[in-house]
Amino acid sequence: MNNSPIDKLPASGESIFATMSRMALEHNAINLSQGFPDFECPEKLKELVDHYIKKGFNQYAPMPGVPRLREEIQEKTLRMYGSHYNADSEITVTAGATQALYTAITAITSPGDECIVFEPAYDSYMPAIQLSGGVIKPLKLNSGDFSLPWDEIRNTITEKTRFLLLNTPQNPGGSVITEDDRKQFEELAGKNPGLIFICDDVYENILFDGRVHYTFTQSEILKPRSIVISSFGKSYHTTGWKMGYILAPEYLTKLIRKIHQFLVFSVNTPIQHAFADFLKDDAHTRELSSFYQRKRDLFNSLVSGSKFKLRPAEGTYFQLLDYSAISGENDRKFAERLTKEYGVAVIPLSPFYGDEHQTGMIRVCFAKRDEVLTAAAEKLCMV
Ligand SMILES: Cc1ncc(COP(=O)(O)O)c(C=O)c1O
Repeated sequence: MNNSPIDKLPASGESIFATMSRMALEHNAINLSQGFPDFECPEKLKELVDHYIKKGFNQYAPMPGVPRLREEIQEKTLRMYGSHYNADSEITVTAGATQALYTAITAITSPGDECIVFEPAYDSYMPAIQLSGGVIKPLKLNSGDFSLPWDEIRNTITEKTRFLLLNTPQNPGGSVITEDDRKQFEELAGKNPGLIFICDDVYENILFDGRVHYTFTQSEILKPRSIVISSFGKSYHTTGWKMGYILAPEYLTKLIRKIHQFLVFSVNTPIQHAFADFLKDDAHTRELSSFYQRKRDLFNSLVSGSKFKLRPAEGTYFQLLDYSAISGENDRKFAERLTKEYGVAVIPLSPFYGDEHQTGMIRVCFAKRDEVLTAAAEKLCMV
């Protein structure tokens, strides 16, 4: 009798990020694949972590997060968006957005619940839904500008729909929702009283050309049924510290914390104290959009002489490049060839689609030092 454990995620193999980063190493290629900065986080933040470790803040934090960090998140959310969340009952500190997403999805999804996810989609959404027995309802964002497919959204919602997961600014599409989109979500909420929104807002501080982040926290209609997820990794150049948080009304936070306590119980104590101090000053996040816009513009102007076509990203630190004028290859093959033959590692777009949809595009991460972007663009101009 075969008594082996079954594979709960048979469709999941090595992630494309691991594959491309490994290939980058093997071929000594410039790595624009995985989404992390290759420059340092603020010196002050490092000093604060060091300070709290040396001062002995090295034991378990309270389950929902260090109280003074939750209070600072409360204040920051009020300053940035004018939205009030109660630090005791509506804010939970997590080990990055990935844990926040998994926890939130697990907390509200039961077998048979329908869950709407937009593609191209960040890779952690679907496995979390599957493990809870949810039924994934993938909707492709509009081709070209990766805007929301409103007719399909309205046609897909049924009384079985548990949640709709929205990521804005969107990775990898680089699109950002508009005020009109948020109004349409309000209408949708009015017509579907049981519908919950999970908002993956990890790039909330990286928007370009004067765009603003239309967060659901600012809507009286959407806020009471939204779980909003943020990541310190993306906003403070600290992806390796894995620290984020969830804003959600009390009835949802109660469900979320039940899962959170058994998944991690609590997260890194000295880093929570460091962020509690660092969050008092908004200077870093206020500058983030212009910091990354300059990098986007530098990279895009350098590749403008190449055969790649592009539509400048509206937000995030990713830029899509259309290679259809260069090759008709599928995107995995093209990305592999780019790494091996031209020395630039990028991410193909098809792994962000359940059906490996081909768009003729690849994704590059421009959260890199200027000299790295310049060297990579030079190589891309030779393709
Ligand atoms: C859209 C999106 N959501 C969530 C995450 C995960 O964030 P964290 O590193 O805080 O877990 C990422 C990281 O790349 C992302 O791009």
